[in-house]
Amino acid sequence: MPSKATIDRVQAGKDQLQFITCGSVDDGKSTLIGRLLHDSKVIYEDQLAALARDSAKHGTTGNDVDFALLVDGLEAEREQGITIDVAYRFFTILRRSFMVADTPGHEQYTRNMATGASNAQLAIILIDARKGVLVQTKRHSFICSLLGIRHVVLAVNKIDLVKYNKERFDRIVGEYMAFAAGLGFTSVVPIPISARYGDNVINQSDKTKWYQGPCLLDYLESIDIQSDVASQVFRFPVQWVNRPNLDFRGYAGSVASGSISAGDEIVVAASGRTTRVKRIVTQDGNLARADAGDAVTITLEDEIDISRGDLLARPNERPEVTDQFAAHLIWMDNDPLVAGRNYILRIGTRTGVAGSITAIKHRIDVDTREHLAARKLGLNEIGFCNVATALPVAFDPYEVNRKTGSFIVIDRFTNRTVGAGMIAFPLRRATNIVRQPLSVGKSERAALKNQKPCIIWFTGLSGAGKSTIANIVDQKLFAMSCHTMLLDGDNVRHGLNRDLGISEADRVENIRRVGEVAKLMADGGLIVICSFISPYRAERDMVRNLVAREEFIEIFVDTPLEECVRRDPKGLYSKAKSGKIRNFTGIDAPYEIPMRPEFHLRTMDQTPEQLAEAVIDVLRARAIVHGH
Ligand code: ADX
Repeated sequence: MPSKATIDRVQAGKDQLQFITCGSVDDGKSTLIGRLLHDSKVIYEDQLAALARDSAKHGTTGNDVDFALLVDGLEAEREQGITIDVAYRFFTILRRSFMVADTPGHEQYTRNMATGASNAQLAIILIDARKGVLVQTKRHSFICSLLGIRHVVLAVNKIDLVKYNKERFDRIVGEYMAFAAGLGFTSVVPIPISARYGDNVINQSDKTKWYQGPCLLDYLESIDIQSDVASQVFRFPVQWVNRPNLDFRGYAGSVASGSISAGDEIVVAASGRTTRVKRIVTQDGNLARADAGDAVTITLEDEIDISRGDLLARPNERPEVTDQFAAHLIWMDNDPLVAGRNYILRIGTRTGVAGSITAIKHRIDVDTREHLAARKLGLNEIGFCNVATALPVAFDPYEVNRKTGSFIVIDRFTNRTVGAGMIAFPLRRATNIVRQPLSVGKSERAALKNQKPCIIWFTGLSGAGKSTIANIVDQKLFAMSCHTMLLDGDNVRHGLNRDLGISEADRVENIRRVGEVAKLMADGGLIVICSFISPYRAERDMVRNLVAREEFIEIFVDTPLEECVRRDPKGLYSKAKSGKIRNFTGIDAPYEIPMRPEFHLRTMDQTPEQLAEAVIDVLRARAIVHGH
C-alpha cells in the first residue's frame, strides 16, 4: 500500500509525471499508450467491452484488442477549441498520476510537438526495432532537448518482430547514444518493448532475459522528477492581486519553483523593492511554507506596488530584468515571422507586453542542427532571435527555469498564438541604459513655434498621389508659417534607408526607422509629413503608438489600382507586370488598407490642390493649425 502522504500528493496532483510520446503511428505510439492505459487497469470495464467490439469490427490485429482504436476513441473526446493538435490523457496508478501528451506523428509536427513538450519532464521516443534510428527520431530528440526535456526513454518497439534480438537492440541503442550525446539529456533509458504483446511495458518480459533494466511503467513510476523543481530557486509569478476589502491585500499565484516560508525576505524583480512574507494563505488556512506547484496567496509586511505579472524572488537570487534578450523561437503561424514587426508577448504570467523580434540571428535545420542564414521564419521553423520588449521584463534563462524562461508571441490583429520562445540570455541590463532628462521639452519647443506637433502619415499605393498631395500640404503649411518637415519614401531610401530593399522584412524596417525619425522630429516641435506606401497595418500602427493619440493623423490616399496602373508615373507598374521588378505593391505584394484612418482621401474626382486643401481642413478641425 502506498503511504497516506503519497496518496495525498498524488491526489493533490503534485506527483504528476508529464510525458510526451514521440514517433509516428507506424512506430506503435498509439498502441503503446493504449497498452499502458489498458494493462494498468485504468480503463473502465465498459470501455474495454466497447474496445473488444470495435477491434473485432475495425481492428488490424485479428482477434487481439487493437489498442490504437482506444487511443483514437479518446482523441475524439478532446476538449473543443484546442487548435493545436495535441491529445492529453490522464491516468493515475497507485504511486503517481500521469499526463501524456500525444502529438500527431506526421510531417508538420513541430508546433504540436512543442506544445506537448513544453510542460513535459520526460519523452518516450519510439523506435521501430526493424527500422532503427531515423531522421525523425533525431528531429524529435532535438526538439525535446530544445524544450528543456532532460529525461528520455528510448522505447525500442516491435522487438517481437526482430525475434527479441539483443544485438539488434544494442546496435540501435549505441547509435542513439552517440547522437544524443550533444543534447544535454541527464538520463536516457533504453527499453526493448513490444507494445502489441506487452513485453516490458507493465511487466518484465521473459522473452528478453538479456535485458536487466526496468519495465516501462516501473520506470515511469519511479523516476525522480520532483527534485528537479524543488532544488531551483524561488520564483512566484503574481497571477492576480487579491483585494476583497481594504484590510486585505494578497498576491495569488502558483509557486513556479523553489519554496518560500512566512518571514522570508522577498524582492519584486522589476522594481527591486524588498519586503518580507507575512502570511501564506490557502483555502485550508495558513501555511508555514509553500513549495513548487502550490497555489497560494501571499501577504507582505509592507504595502508595496505589485501588480499582476510581477515576479517575486529572494533578494540574493534575482532573475534577469531587461528589455532585450536572445531566444529560441518556434514559429507556429502560416504567415511567416518578419523581424522588426510588433507583436504582443506573454512572458510567464506577464501578459500584453509589446515587443518585437529585432533580428533573426539564424534558423536551425531540425534534421542536421545546422545554423542557416534567414530573413524569415515560416511555419514550424525554429530560429535563434533577438527580442526587444517595450518595458523591462523579469525572466530566467529557459535552461534554468522553464516556467519563467518561456514566452509566447501573439499577433496583434488576429490574437492568434504565432510563436513560442525559450529565452537563452539577456542582451543587456535595462538598468545600464537610462534616459537622459532634457531640460527643453517637446511642449516648450512646440510653444515656441506656436503649433501642435504631429505626424501626418500618408499611405497608399505607388502612384496614388501621396507625394504630390503631401508636397502641396507642406507648401500650404509653410505659407501659414508652420514649422514642418516632409519625409518621402523615395528620398529616405536614398540616405538613411539606402541599405533596405523592398522585401517584407525591409519594408517593416523602413517604416520602423522612419517612424522613429518622425517621432524625434515631432519631439522637436515639428509637424512631420510622411509619405510612404507603408503597406502593412502592423507598422503603421507601430508608428501610431509612438506618439500621443491626437498626434498621429493617418491619411489613406485611396486611388484604385487600375488608375495607379494607368498613371504609372515612374513606369514601375509596367515593369512589375512584365516581371522585371518583383514584390510590387498591388501587383505581387499586398497592400493592407487602413481600417480607421483619420481621413479617407478619395482621389478620383478632385485635383491634387483640392485634395491638399481638404487635408488642411482636417488639420484645422483638429486644431493643429489655425488661420487661412
Ligand atoms: S514602403 O513599402 O517601404 O513603404 P516606400 O514608400 O518607402 O515603400 O518606397 C516605395 C517607393 O519605392 C515607390 O514609390 C517606388 O517608387 C519604389 N519602388 C521600387 N520597387 C518597388 C516595389 N517593388 N514596390 C513598391 N514600390 C517600389
